[in-house]
Amino acid sequence: MIVTTAQLFQEAYGRYAVGAYNINNMEQALGLFQGHIEAQAPFIIQLSKGARKYANARVLEAIIRAVESEYPEAIFAVHLDHGDEQTCYDCIDSGFYSSVMIDASHETFAENVAITRRVVERAHAKGISVESELGMLGGVEEDIKVDEKHAMLTDPDEAQAFVEASGCDSLAVAIGTSHGAYKFAGSQGLHFDRIEAIQAALPGFPLVMHGSSSVPQSEVQRINAAGGALNPNAKGVDDSQFGRAAKLGVTKVNIDTDGRLVWTRVHREFFRDHPEGFDFRTPGKEYVKAYADFIVDKSRKLGSAGHLEEVRAAVM
Ligand code: G3H
Ligand code: 13P
Ligand code: ZN
Repeated sequence: MIVTTAQLFQEAYGRYAVGAYNINNMEQALGLFQGHIEAQAPFIIQLSKGARKYANARVLEAIIRAVESEYPEAIFAVHLDHGDEQTCYDCIDSGFYSSVMIDASHETFAENVAITRRVVERAHAKGISVESELGMLGGVEEDIKVDEKHAMLTDPDEAQAFVEASGCDSLAVAIGTSHGAYKFAGSQGLHFDRIEAIQAALPGFPLVMHGSSSVPQSEVQRINAAGGALNPNAKGVDDSQFGRAAKLGVTKVNIDTDGRLVWTRVHREFFRDHPEGFDFRTPGKEYVKAYADFIVDKSRKLGSAGHLEEVRAAVM
């Protein structure tokens, strides 16, 4: 059952975070549903502009609808990740998406408010939720490159003013994370003092944490042992901190990179161990299982595991 992110957040806020996963293909869709049914967790499917271009937006929609028909008990939102204004309108008009993200965080505050306001009006007219972003994450974000040293944490007072003026339903905040595999050096990590200050300025309002992959050392090492050349210093978010962040209002946690690492590890190891192999269905099947296991583990760390029936009762 497709629900809005606002419906999911109403149940989750302050108790647990809902995992939001980027997918690009059939194997990821299968693993995502399997894992969430096993974990009995609600979830958010995120489709980026890149994914919509890679797999074709209609093909992605057909895959998700087909996989849902195999797992009719699943409860999830379909969300556009890092949309521009036109892509938001395309998704709102498609009748498939229950949530969109307008990312105008690179614009001035006033322009970000104005663009978000326009998207909110069109989305809310159709009962669709809107996520917006304020502040700048480090790293690479779609086609916008933000230099690490210019990454700006979200200002709590600005966040409060932004939400009030734009009418968005959730806000992506810059709290120390960045996209990709190389997030932190040394002892850097989440800025809990900033999350607390934003929650104090916006009590009860769902916050979104982008760039939340954990980049497990074990995955990086296995990929490199199987012929990869990832930077061994790659470091992500400590997922044992998801619970603390959730209590402070972080209600949506975005994960893409970790899923890519699972794919890369499974396929590199398979072809290393079977150099004669060329039937991609064998590692493909293994990947679906490995991605589903990964989802079960993440759902437990996010605290969303076991909440499926409670969410069903609330949204029915
Ligand atoms: O925030 C970006 C997501 O990881 C999506 O990545 O644009 O390569 O699909 P992508
Ligand atoms: P990661 O690169 O940490 O997986 O973040 C993904 C993300 O924020 C998608 O919007
Ligand atoms: Zn993101």
